[in-house]
Amino acid sequence: MNKISVEKIIELKNISNITMITAYDFVSGHIVNNSDAEIILVGDSLGTTTLGHEFTNRVKIEDIIRATQSISRVGITKLMVSDMPFMTYETKELALSNALRLIDAGADAVKLEGGKEKTEIINFLVLNNIKVMGHIGIKPQSVDKISDYKILGKNKIEENNIFEDAKEVESSGAFSVVLELVDSKLSKNITESISIPTIGISSGKYTDGQVQVYNDLIGYSPNKLPKHSKSFDNLFEKAQSAINSFVEETKRKSK
Ligand code: KIV
Repeated sequence: MNKISVEKIIELKNISNITMITAYDFVSGHIVNNSDAEIILVGDSLGTTTLGHEFTNRVKIEDIIRATQSISRVGITKLMVSDMPFMTYETKELALSNALRLIDAGADAVKLEGGKEKTEIINFLVLNNIKVMGHIGIKPQSVDKISDYKILGKNKIEENNIFEDAKEVESSGAFSVVLELVDSKLSKNITESISIPTIGISSGKYTDGQVQVYNDLIGYSPNKLPKHSKSFDNLFEKAQSAINSFVEETKRKSK
């Protein structure tokens, strides 16, 4: 099967909804790669789903490098986008050297959080042949209270700000942009006003695609799932039950 390219993702705008799903290791990489999703995101949600941190801003570049390497051993045919963790893209030079480490680990593109304030960085990466996905609206790396997770863009100031962010991320050369917790009407307006695909999470149905977190989708977490997540099963309960069955069987056979 041919590998999905950035050009293919751009082409899908206005043709078909794009699906992006996170993965963090060889097994989740296999499962997502076997689906019809177009993009695998090695998200820094790794920190909360897998490493047990409360917020994503604890994730280090080495965590994402290791996850990217293990997923690339699957032989990925999707577009693989790796997140740049908190504080790894503060200057152009730092951003480029860390982005190159992720590409070296197997990523096809990188994602970073920020609008207007990050356009110089995005543009520098693009000029150095790195494909970049933007991320605006709620930027989880800047969140340190659960109560900060709320829909943005409901008032005029936020609306103008996020709209400008989207326009600037587009003109800095990003090939697509995640809209996280952006008011649905504003998401629709942004989607219709920029030429690159928008990929939404909790931002309504009018974006060009949707992204979800692997553990949320399959219900594989000891924690209550975030309000904006979508869950289609409860694999945490099923895994617990399999483990308990083995322990019970072993105990029953005690001498
Ligand atoms: O890290 C992540 O999983 C993300 C998505 C929620 C977009 O950034």
